[in-house]
Amino acid sequence: MTSTSVTDADLHRWVRLAGRAPSAHNTQPWSPRVVDGTVEVAVVPDRVLAAGDPSFRDLLLSLGAWVECLAIAAGADGRGVVVEPTPWLDRLADLPVRGPADPASPVLVVRPDAAPYATAFTPADVRARRTHRGRLDTAADLRRDAPALPPWLALLQVDDPAMRHLVRLGGAWTASRRAVAAELVRWLRLSPAHPRYARDGMTDRMLLLPPLLARVAAPLTRRPALHDAALTVAGLAGRAVEALGRSRPLPVPPATGEPLTGPQHLVLVARTSGVRSATEALDARLGLPPAQVLEAGRALQRTWLHAHRSGLAVAPHSEVVDSPHAVAGLRRRLGLRRSQVALAVFSVGRPVDPAPPSPRLTDVGAPPDASHGLVRPGQGR
Ligand SMILES: Cc1cc2nc3c(=O)[nH]c(=O)nc-3n(C[C@H](O)[C@H](O)[C@H](O)COP(=O)(O)O)c2cc1C
Repeated sequence: MTSTSVTDADLHRWVRLAGRAPSAHNTQPWSPRVVDGTVEVAVVPDRVLAAGDPSFRDLLLSLGAWVECLAIAAGADGRGVVVEPTPWLDRLADLPVRGPADPASPVLVVRPDAAPYATAFTPADVRARRTHRGRLDTAADLRRDAPALPPWLALLQVDDPAMRHLVRLGGAWTASRRAVAAELVRWLRLSPAHPRYARDGMTDRMLLLPPLLARVAAPLTRRPALHDAALTVAGLAGRAVEALGRSRPLPVPPATGEPLTGPQHLVLVARTSGVRSATEALDARLGLPPAQVLEAGRALQRTWLHAHRSGLAVAPHSEVVDSPHAVAGLRRRLGLRRSQVALAVFSVGRPVDPAPPSPRLTDVGAPPDASHGLVRPGQGR
């Protein structure tokens, strides 16, 4: 028991809910341990996208989403959390490229707090929110009644013709960078026969792949010879599409005031000049201290939960901020200053069909996973 009468069993329950947080490729890169009435969170090197996320942007946004979900669990119990980043958070580049989490170097320590976390969201929202990769219809501007953002963050809208162009350019970049594409393939689970189908990664169902396509593509993710051939073909096609896309200017923007006819496309933009420490910002690869990107991840998760509560769904498009060509086009279109960083791009709208659930290591019944290092009740040190 702790001084706030939060038991270790409560903390384990909070951790289980936080496990429903979204993460890039559903990597679930966090490894929480309940230790002496606190939760220590380490990063799992095997679950960091070494090729696709060299700046740790997606890792930090995902950790932020995890913290927000933990805080919502605490809030539902009439408690709050105090989140303390450790010096390891500023040393992500020192992580090994492979291997399990190192419990001796947690990046965050989360302590329960007696002051309840004030949130509009519930554990049920956390469980029911899903990424949606199907058709999204037009809805009212999400920003109208979205939760307030910290003053150094903003949600800017990008028009549909530009977004289509940038998504194509970003997708082509992913396909044509072999290490990035191989990493994506490593996280695909295209058949229930995949040994990790119920644990992590992106399933054929989540990606809404037609069953025949999933059947044809599944062996590509498992058999090295087929996998290599597929990456070569994808690389050639990606380079062709990228070359074509780069040679064309951004499409003409729609006339001001023209109503949306599809989903809204939003960009989470951070202002680097407003960060807490200029020295930290200079040291960080994104131009923002890691703790601040984590805060942005919390705000992003609140925005996505708000969309869910409003009956809307979100489709992230990180390829637009991953590809140097796409992000350059995005910056031009939005008129971003040098001091502004685009952290996340997503589409939001009214889903036509429900989205399938995604697996988690922490789901009840999920097979145990040695690489994750999650300490379950009764296993604490
Ligand atoms: C930082 C971040 C970046 C993401 N980028 C993408 C993306 O580019 N494309 C995509 O389809 N999903 C993206 N996702 C969604 C994840 O794939 C998704 O959260 C994960 O597979 C779990 O599924 P769920 O959100 O339905 O729970 C991203 C999620 C996060 C947190």
